[in-house]
Amino acid sequence: MKVGLFGFGVVGRGIFDIIETKKTSDLKKIEVKKALVSSIRGRNLGILTIDPQEIIQDKEIDTVVEVMGGIDPAYGYIVASLKAGKNVVTANKAVVAEHFKEFVELARINKVKFYYEPSVCGGVPIIEGLKKVRKIDEVSEIGGIFNGTTNFILDKMTKYSAEFEETLKEAQEKGYAESDPSADIDGIDILRKIMISSSIAFDFLVPEKEVSVFGIRNILKIDIDYFKEKNKIVKLIALGKKKEDKYICCVEPVAFNSDEVEASVPENFNIAFLKGESIGELKFFGQGAGKYPTGNAGVQDLIDILEEKQYEYPEFNNRLIKDPSLVVGKYYIRTKKRINEIMIDLIDTQEKIKDYNIYTTKNITNEKMHNILKEINDKNVFFVRIN
Ligand code: HSE
Repeated sequence: MKVGLFGFGVVGRGIFDIIETKKTSDLKKIEVKKALVSSIRGRNLGILTIDPQEIIQDKEIDTVVEVMGGIDPAYGYIVASLKAGKNVVTANKAVVAEHFKEFVELARINKVKFYYEPSVCGGVPIIEGLKKVRKIDEVSEIGGIFNGTTNFILDKMTKYSAEFEETLKEAQEKGYAESDPSADIDGIDILRKIMISSSIAFDFLVPEKEVSVFGIRNILKIDIDYFKEKNKIVKLIALGKKKEDKYICCVEPVAFNSDEVEASVPENFNIAFLKGESIGELKFFGQGAGKYPTGNAGVQDLIDILEEKQYEYPEFNNRLIKDPSLVVGKYYIRTKKRINEIMIDLIDTQEKIKDYNIYTTKNITNEKMHNILKEINDKNVFFVRIN
């Protein structure tokens, strides 16, 4: 197998290193022939090129791996490669979430394979797990801690009673968070991962506009302390649920009892869970990002292609309707504003901590919680679903 890499950053280099070790008989059968970079200057590696056509038009290259991130030019390179009859592996959640169906269709038409395991939770084999479970079971639930940066921040805030800003800085220094961390802390990275995994779990292409997202940008030590006192730990959770022809997907902070598995996920680790009819509950724990874990997931996909594993093109056959009643819970709300009469019926308890009003709601849907957010209209508000 001759491989072309679009991108030679952290993950691209990880894939290259793993292949070059030639540690196993499978790895000995894979060769990285070319790697696209933006500039070769100062680098003495024969495989590097700045011309994408050197990969797309190279007949010897049968498989490409896209590890550039972002939509453009990654989208164009994936489309051109599929059309040129090359298998594609990608670690790029943004481009898969936006063009999933088109890539699968192009792969089918051109009789090649399209793999994307590293795009969801890096080294955690959730896509492979889902595909296996779905051969036997309907999947009724999928989700978990899908972002290492935010888990690192929440874990540090909990363990050291730290404030958000200082832990975010530490996450950036450790190279977990981007210098613009919005995609992580606002839940956008997780949104993409839950869209891709739910689409496979439910055989239904989840529309982005139907997924409600609330991140941890506004979390304060006060919130962490409130839950600590109640022996609970806050995590940022992706969740997809399906019941008959109804479904829901959302991203929101959730407080778990401290003895629950999710509560003990440390540092920048991820956990992904799914529920199947006969398999019951499955959990996958591991590194959701990084050079070698994500690189490993990419190489696993290459080996699946190499072994000519039977490939099932996702069909997205189901026509599901969003049903907010599938996620119901009591919510904690912290705001300096007051909840008005329109919404007060939904409130169960109310107290004052420092300058803040702390409310807990009766059992309400995630959609109702977002309605309350609109009513409160406080850009610093924070909420948590109490599990
Ligand atoms: N920034 C992500 C994380 C990794 O922290 O999990 C890439 O999706």
